[in-house]
Amino acid sequence: MACVTPVRRLDGRDVTTLEGLPGPDRSAWAGALVSSGGSQCGFCTPGIVMRLAALEGPVSDDRLDQSLLAHLCRCTGWQTIREAAHAVLDATAAPRPGARDLDAAAARAALEGGVPQRVGPDVVLGDAGFADDDAPAAALVAVPDGDGDYAVADTVAAARTAAGKVQGRSTTVPLGHPVALPAGDWALTLATTWVEPAYVEPDASWCIPGGEPASPYRNGGAFGGKRHSPVVDDARRLADELDRPVRVLWSREDVVRRSPKRPPVGAGIAADGTGVLRVGISGGPVDDDRWAAVVRSVGAVAPGLTLEQVPVDGPPVSFDLRAAVWAEAAVLAAAVRLAPEGRSGDRVPVVGIPVEVVGPGGGRAVVCCGPDGALDIEVAAGPVLDAVVLRSYAIGAAHQALGWVGSEGIAVDPDGQVQDLTVRSFGILQARAMPAVTVRCGDGEGSTPVNGSDAVFAAVAAARWLADGLAPSWPTDRSGAGRR
Ligand code: FES
Repeated sequence: MACVTPVRRLDGRDVTTLEGLPGPDRSAWAGALVSSGGSQCGFCTPGIVMRLAALEGPVSDDRLDQSLLAHLCRCTGWQTIREAAHAVLDATAAPRPGARDLDAAAARAALEGGVPQRVGPDVVLGDAGFADDDAPAAALVAVPDGDGDYAVADTVAAARTAAGKVQGRSTTVPLGHPVALPAGDWALTLATTWVEPAYVEPDASWCIPGGEPASPYRNGGAFGGKRHSPVVDDARRLADELDRPVRVLWSREDVVRRSPKRPPVGAGIAADGTGVLRVGISGGPVDDDRWAAVVRSVGAVAPGLTLEQVPVDGPPVSFDLRAAVWAEAAVLAAAVRLAPEGRSGDRVPVVGIPVEVVGPGGGRAVVCCGPDGALDIEVAAGPVLDAVVLRSYAIGAAHQALGWVGSEGIAVDPDGQVQDLTVRSFGILQARAMPAVTVRCGDGEGSTPVNGSDAVFAAVAAARWLADGLAPSWPTDRSGAGRR
């Protein structure tokens, strides 16, 4: 809620935070959310708990979804939050799983999130330790200015005043598809747009002179979006230059303007699986080694596709974002195997057929999309380690995939400037638009645990695209996201 509530609206009011809940209530919510897997990075969770704790049970899913309209959870896909709410609020709460090894759960979470991760009540209660939590009280504050550097002051307010405010907004500029389709007679074509990773904790770091900067992801992988976040080097440089501890803080608007996006693509694939996948690249050529790794990952899932780099004007892009490029290739390869005759966008919806994707790391997902949109997911990723966490990440990946195909995208103007600067403008599916998801977790054949949710992400995207009649461009339907 703090993300969307201007402080001026709180003038003269009392605010109760999670710390103000009675102890037994805090414990009940923490236990329920850990048991369901309804909290991953945990950044959204205290606000959601306060919203749900104000309800009186029993509650319907509709009531819960209505309550969650003001919130954004990017990680979990809502279903496990609903399950936790029923467990606390309803007399008919489902039995909770027995004792778990939370170290094994954290190991599974780290594989799925891509960085070390914690699982436990402290995460739910906001005590996972976020980047700015333990910054020295006397540190200077640095926020981005309009010239590509930082305004520095004693307080956040003073630094923001000095930097000049960038107003958060949604725009009427339409979504674009900046990468032209390859020439050819294709069975399927696909054009995608700029997609915001939309991790909820904005980039932040702090450093003392001569010290090591705080990591911008203390609990949560940001879907790869912070892997090369500049705040780390910026905090070190400013602390050394100013000989004072410095906190570097990006606002939501800063993150949207400066952080990397999923690269837009334009692709064509023939019925035999051969084709061309053109990838939009902004900010100069890609490092040879990095590009070679992208080519290898695509070769593992769609060996008939050839990759091309296409320069585009726009925000930075990153191949570190969840399954970037190989998921697009896997979607094309899976869809063309199952596609009926006809051109892209002129086909009957395909539902009820299993769609299989095996990711470059060996994680395997089989997804079936029913006529009502419900998803049945089977995921195999080596030893499960913790079924609650693997299931939670699978549902979160499904949510992200459904948004990617159906509703997500940010507008970029002809000069390459991002125009959608609010969380609500990204097109992320709200809880009420999320279909029922069933997940079965298996060990698969491998003896080593591997990431499974990225394969789920690609398989759900392919299944949803088939169900949408293989529309030639994404997003296919912005209506489910409650975009404002
Ligand atoms: S757990 Fe909700 S945003 Fe990460």
